[in-house]
Amino acid sequence: MPGSAGYEHSGEHLNDVPIGEIYMGEDWLARWREGRIGWHEASGSDLLRRYWPNIDAGSRVLVPLCGKSLDLLWLAEQGHSVTGIELSEIAIVTFFRELELEHQTRTVGQLQYFRCTSLDITLVSGDYFEYQDGGFDALYDRGSLVALPPDMRQKYVAHTKSLLKNSALQLLITLEYDQASVSGPPFAVQAEEIFSYWPDLRRCSQQNVINESPPKFRQAGMRELIESVWLTNTTPDR
Ligand SMILES: C[S@@+](CC[C@H](N)C(=O)[O-])C[C@H]1O[C@@H](n2cnc3c(N)ncnc32)[C@H](O)[C@@H]1O
Repeated sequence: MPGSAGYEHSGEHLNDVPIGEIYMGEDWLARWREGRIGWHEASGSDLLRRYWPNIDAGSRVLVPLCGKSLDLLWLAEQGHSVTGIELSEIAIVTFFRELELEHQTRTVGQLQYFRCTSLDITLVSGDYFEYQDGGFDALYDRGSLVALPPDMRQKYVAHTKSLLKNSALQLLITLEYDQASVSGPPFAVQAEEIFSYWPDLRRCSQQNVINESPPKFRQAGMRELIESVWLTNTTPDR
């Protein structure tokens, strides 16, 4: 995998976090090193393109745990100022290389910023929980909340809220299934849990994606894997 030579995070910036989180972090880094990135959508998310509302072009959009998602590019093409945070530097370097985008880098504390020179995209390499530059107008979360085990999700939600303006638009894509039958990631996040974090979200799409899901779900005999889109209640229709 390109970009890894001596440059991938060793995990040292995770020193002050609970041990389970370090294991999680190391697991994600290993996935990127070994190319085990089955969640990556080669053309980006259809659901984002269908449900992202009309908001001001210059809005600052936060994309936590962004991987090398092509949704970063799509959001920038809508005129937004896009910031993604991703643990794996391999993911970020690969994003820029595959799209043939130039970037400049700078280091701020334990984080490394990669700023695209031609589009308004900044990708930050490091632990999301270290990132503090808030004031975002919107959140796009696909594969982020569901990437985290239950004991980390409250921390994720609190940190994300701290980075968003009170009026921020939120679009989340989540998965619901029987967690007792299959282990994550991706983890199941049930509707009640979503509402406990964000009572003002509404579900605007719900579909069974079991046939397109990773084999482990069907191998466990599962027939339902519900993918939902959650959107801030007050957003204008597209
Ligand atoms: C399931 S993937 C989803 C990636 C992307 N959102 C997408 O839709 O393609 C979860 C990503 O979160 C990253 N990640 C996990 N823990 C993280 C953390 N603490 N800080 C930043 N990124 C993290 C992983 O490296 C991985 O790329």
